[in-house]
Amino acid sequence: MTAATSWPRIAGLAYGGDYNPEQWPRETWDEDVRLMREAGVTLVSVGIFSWAMLEPREGEYDFAWMDDLLDLLHANGVAVDLGTPTVAPPAWFFATYPEARVVTRDGVTLGAGSRGMASHSHPAYQDASARIAGALARRYGDHPAVVMWHVHNEYGVPVGEDYSPAAVDAWRVWLRTRYVSLDALNAAWGTAFWGQRYGEWEHVGAPAAAPTTLNPAQRLDFARFTDDQLRACFSREKAAIREHADQPVTTNFMAHQSWNVDLWKWAALVDIVSDDHYLWSPDPDAHVLLALAADLTRSVAGGNPWILMEHSTSGVNWQGRNISKRPGEMRRNSLAHLGRGADAILFFQWRASRSGAEKFHSAMLPHAGTESRVWREVVELGGHLRDLADVRGSRVRADVAVLYDWESLWAQELDWRPSEDVQFRERMRAFYERLWRDHVTVDFAHPGHDLSAYKLVVAPASYLLTRDSAANLTRYVEAGGTLLVNFFSAIVDENDAVHDGGFGAPLKDALGLTVEEFLPMREGDTAAVRWTGGETVDLPVDVWQDHLALAGAETVAEYLSGPAAGKAAITRHEHGEGVGWYVGTRLDVDALATVMRAVYADAGVEISGLPATLEVVTRHGADADFVVAINHGDDAALLPVAGVNMLTGVETDGELEVPGGGVAVVRTA
Ligand code: GLA
Repeated sequence: MTAATSWPRIAGLAYGGDYNPEQWPRETWDEDVRLMREAGVTLVSVGIFSWAMLEPREGEYDFAWMDDLLDLLHANGVAVDLGTPTVAPPAWFFATYPEARVVTRDGVTLGAGSRGMASHSHPAYQDASARIAGALARRYGDHPAVVMWHVHNEYGVPVGEDYSPAAVDAWRVWLRTRYVSLDALNAAWGTAFWGQRYGEWEHVGAPAAAPTTLNPAQRLDFARFTDDQLRACFSREKAAIREHADQPVTTNFMAHQSWNVDLWKWAALVDIVSDDHYLWSPDPDAHVLLALAADLTRSVAGGNPWILMEHSTSGVNWQGRNISKRPGEMRRNSLAHLGRGADAILFFQWRASRSGAEKFHSAMLPHAGTESRVWREVVELGGHLRDLADVRGSRVRADVAVLYDWESLWAQELDWRPSEDVQFRERMRAFYERLWRDHVTVDFAHPGHDLSAYKLVVAPASYLLTRDSAANLTRYVEAGGTLLVNFFSAIVDENDAVHDGGFGAPLKDALGLTVEEFLPMREGDTAAVRWTGGETVDLPVDVWQDHLALAGAETVAEYLSGPAAGKAAITRHEHGEGVGWYVGTRLDVDALATVMRAVYADAGVEISGLPATLEVVTRHGADADFVVAINHGDDAALLPVAGVNMLTGVETDGELEVPGGGVAVVRTA
């Protein structure tokens, strides 16, 4: 896999957002560009939803308004990320090709009048989307405003899986390519179970609604197929653009917010990684998930700078309760993305829409206009990004990797698991938050990646772990690495079949154990473990206990209560030059602190004594380091650092006070 590297030709850090001027009269555009200049906007994404305006009838194009728009933006020094409008086909498309609509798992055909309704497997959609992408590239490939291309919008959202006839035909072709013979398919899917054996390719259907749960291997393959179909659509459009244009091409991901695209694979196809991120309102500490998403985005980008393509200046419109950002929160969010590798900070959207489904979504220019808190903060942020121009291109370094595999997520989320309380996202969040609170900067990695650069590898949720990946992790430990594996990991192979040798068998050498039996707990039940690794302390646990079969591992904590009372709960195993840790139960973020302290000590990972609410990340440049500090607490916090705060110009010689809710970016030597 290659990592994205090209960067659009824009000086400094890019600033801006989605711009949908077709919703406004022409005279408003002049005001828009004037205000964009005032705010320091340098990059806008246009045309993402403009198919009906650009091709009002099939094969008939109207580019006049786009010509005018691009010229206007260029004349005002605003660069353009030109969208292909293929997430929202026009009404004529669905009238002409009604069979190109998506069918859900339950057999419902999705209607037009929204967005994202076309079947990615239907030839009419494939042709029409490549045609409009090519037509745009032919017309604007040489336009001086266009610095990059934005294909489609958030692949996989709102539509991922499609059960239309066209999709089922494509699925059979996909299966024949993957398995070649029906015998191989029957073996991989374990169709001997419930008499599901197939004798003809035509009899293999998509895993649509059925009387009870479906074959999990079939569903897992359907998830892979869906992702492949979406990627093929991206590649088709990218190829159409490449015939006429050579600017970098991206599509906006939603790292850790959408689930049906495998970003390790997608990142290899885009020229530059971009990501959208929205705070999840019910979560008062949503900035932790923001940091997780930003680290994941940087990691799929191979450590290269990336574009924050969308976030919000204040509330969104699509959650149950759309909580507005507090004063200063948008700046903290923006700089947290920047600290974790974003070299462009963009929003959805420039000017709030008066009509349509998103009129209550915040924007850079709100309905209240320029006499507003949001606008003042937007202008202030534009100034900050100008002051931070030198940060561009600098890199984040991490000693710790967290394993993240979309295939494992897809498999773990299928039906009929031992406990519905065991969830990929919950465990990912808990371990990530522990590391975040300890100020340990992490990368994410696939379990098959080369991990040798990391002192510590953490596996919060590796339910599906192939033999090859398990061997990779074992070699990592043998060579001196420290590996921490959480329960319900290394359970199944790539076909969702339990590993030969039992639960955890592929990691037996690295961890010095396997799992004899799962002992899930009743909802609300709690228990405790006694930790004896150095200090002795009792830690609360819930949801799950493993009955472990030790094969060399030493017990560091034992269950005091619960179904596995008296048995090993947390273990440590020296293997080769390294150490394999295992946690067989669910610990919350606070309880994990004790475990992680011991794990950090084994790995040689240093932690600071900074307040947990002070987020600090360093970007390393060729000539200087940039320490980005974000205070999520209400009280001022002290940061030991020497250098110049680039946001104020004030020099600090050893200790910087970051005010409650405030931010700082210090250029050190
Ligand atoms: C997504 C889309 C945007 C807009 C925002 C609203 O991220 O890409 O077009 O709908 O959500 O939050």
